[in-house]
Amino acid sequence: MGKKRVVALGGDGVGPEVITATCHILKGGNFNLEITESPNGEAALAKYGDVLPRETKELCEKADGILFGAANPPSQPIILYLRWGLGNYINVRPSKFYPGMNSPLKEPDGIDFVVLRENSEGMYTFAEGDLSLLREKLPEFRTRHGKSIADYGEGKFALRIISEQGIRRFAKYACEYTMERKRKGYPGKLTLVTKSNMFEVTGGLIEQRMQEEVKNYPEIKYGRYYVDDMARRIVRFPKDFDVIATSNLFGDILTDEAAEIVGGLGVAGSACIGGRVPYFESVHGTAPDIAGKNIVNPTAAILSAKYMLDYFNMQQEADSLERALASVYKEGKSLTKEQGGNATTMEFAEEVLRGIK
Ligand code: IPM
Ligand code: MN
Repeated sequence: MGKKRVVALGGDGVGPEVITATCHILKGGNFNLEITESPNGEAALAKYGDVLPRETKELCEKADGILFGAANPPSQPIILYLRWGLGNYINVRPSKFYPGMNSPLKEPDGIDFVVLRENSEGMYTFAEGDLSLLREKLPEFRTRHGKSIADYGEGKFALRIISEQGIRRFAKYACEYTMERKRKGYPGKLTLVTKSNMFEVTGGLIEQRMQEEVKNYPEIKYGRYYVDDMARRIVRFPKDFDVIATSNLFGDILTDEAAEIVGGLGVAGSACIGGRVPYFESVHGTAPDIAGKNIVNPTAAILSAKYMLDYFNMQQEADSLERALASVYKEGKSLTKEQGGNATTMEFAEEVLRGIK
């Protein structure tokens, strides 16, 4: 098998630190990868006038996978490109407890579920504007309760869009993914999260299309909760879940919560897939308060790299990376500050690398 080509983009804030630490492990572990770094983020903006210079974009287009750190608001075009530009409509965000992680729960052992976040539409349409626009274009429009736009007076709106194509492909992926996990020994349980008691039309469509799709997979145990109820269940009954599927904004919120119950944002990685080139990033942001201090926990980026290796079917490498990471937590001697230790970012990475060699 030829080397998989990986482009590493640190982005801003703690992004470059977690990506450097992760690449240090991937290179040191002699994985069959060709890793290229290329200018991006605010640093590239200052130097080349673009957060994603053309050469970087061209490298991304030719890559097998992209590792990404985090973006400050000026670098948002990077996220736009990685998600919408490349067409990565599925965001896979696992929540798995590794003993030794700093969980706030009494008995986190055994938490191991995945949130599938629809990554292309829902509330993430960027379709916002002034109410006067809606008032003008939709003078006849009435809400379910008979209100017109004019009744709201001055204000702004945001659109939530669920397209037929968007929800059908998401539903299909959710079922396929649940079955794939089932083959690995997981329970084959798929839980849809909506808010169809309020969003009757958009939420209703999501439920209908998911239900239709699930009928093709008789082995899947299927259930559904409202998002407020789910927020509570993730804390109280996290071990009830296997695969959770939800729309974009609910997924954004629930995955921060899902990260927190296992050990915090520092340990939550993700895979964004379904498009031309997949990309892998931490759930956390740029954390400006701790940026540049070599103290950020690189686990989220390391786990994202593990999901990349899974994606490449480099199973031995993925397993060895996961084992090495897990044993650093189990030993508990080289943990970063927010996990209760005093290791630096690079000391932590060095320890993971030691476990691979
Ligand atoms: C995430 C982040 C992003 C999102 C931001 C940075 C745009 O919070 O990946 O969860 O809202 O999706
Ligand atoms: Mn988020």
